[in-house]
Amino acid sequence: MKNVDQNTITQAVLERMGDMPDARLKTILTSLVHHLHDFARDVTLSEEEWMHAIQFLTRTGQKCDDKRQEFILLSDVLGLSMLTVAMNNQKPPGCTEATVFGPFFVEDAPIVPLGGDVAQGAPGQPCTVSGRVVGSHGQAVAHAQLEVWQADEEGFYDVQRPELHALQARARLQADSEGRFHFNTIVAEAYPIPTDGPVGELLRATGRHPWRPAHLHFMIKAPGFETLITHVFRNGDKYLESDAVFGVRESLIADWVKQPDGNTQLHFDFVLNESHD
Ligand code: BEZ
Ligand code: FE
Repeated sequence: MKNVDQNTITQAVLERMGDMPDARLKTILTSLVHHLHDFARDVTLSEEEWMHAIQFLTRTGQKCDDKRQEFILLSDVLGLSMLTVAMNNQKPPGCTEATVFGPFFVEDAPIVPLGGDVAQGAPGQPCTVSGRVVGSHGQAVAHAQLEVWQADEEGFYDVQRPELHALQARARLQADSEGRFHFNTIVAEAYPIPTDGPVGELLRATGRHPWRPAHLHFMIKAPGFETLITHVFRNGDKYLESDAVFGVRESLIADWVKQPDGNTQLHFDFVLNESHD
């Protein structure tokens, strides 16, 4: 097709993709082209703005390495990550809700026995975490596998500290035969997501703060159940209403109770959804 104009270009692109063998890819790309073209027409995108966006995305890619995923961060602050989580994790009432994965998960975290130390030297106030993993009928999920990870009291994950030679404040644990777990760690504190890259530019340009309310990450797996990726948030945190990545759910907020001996205790029970495949 020759002589496309600002209206006929959309159909021209879609016709060029007409023979795609992968039906799902065709659905996704067709919708993407429609929305992208409508967006450009809607804002009457200038050539300078188009180039600005290309350069922004280029810098986003250049900021990525094996420890830094700026594209996930971009998806997070635009609400795309949470939208995808919300659409794909609709569970029966009573099941623990999911939230964003975030960019700081690391495979093969240290295996820690129940009652062990997850912090491994990370700076922070002592905290004991306990709870139980059950199914949607209240039945114990025996030997559920838990992965936990968190920032330290200065707001950094271990992977953000190049001086460290070992992982800190993350672990893999196995619940007991009743689904119960407990471990020692440090109190999670609110922290800003990284702002030294293009996502930081975007937040500044849009007048947004980068803070996430204090939370502890969990990924829980057990045969016969859907994997749960979630956080527990600390009640009272001043960023609960304005999380930079839109991840807070009321049902995931818990009291982190300071004890007279200075230790903080968190208790949280997780309800997994049975898998049906
Ligand atoms: C996190 O909670 O680790 C996180 C989530 C989204 C963006 C940045 C950090
Ligand atoms: Fe986090």
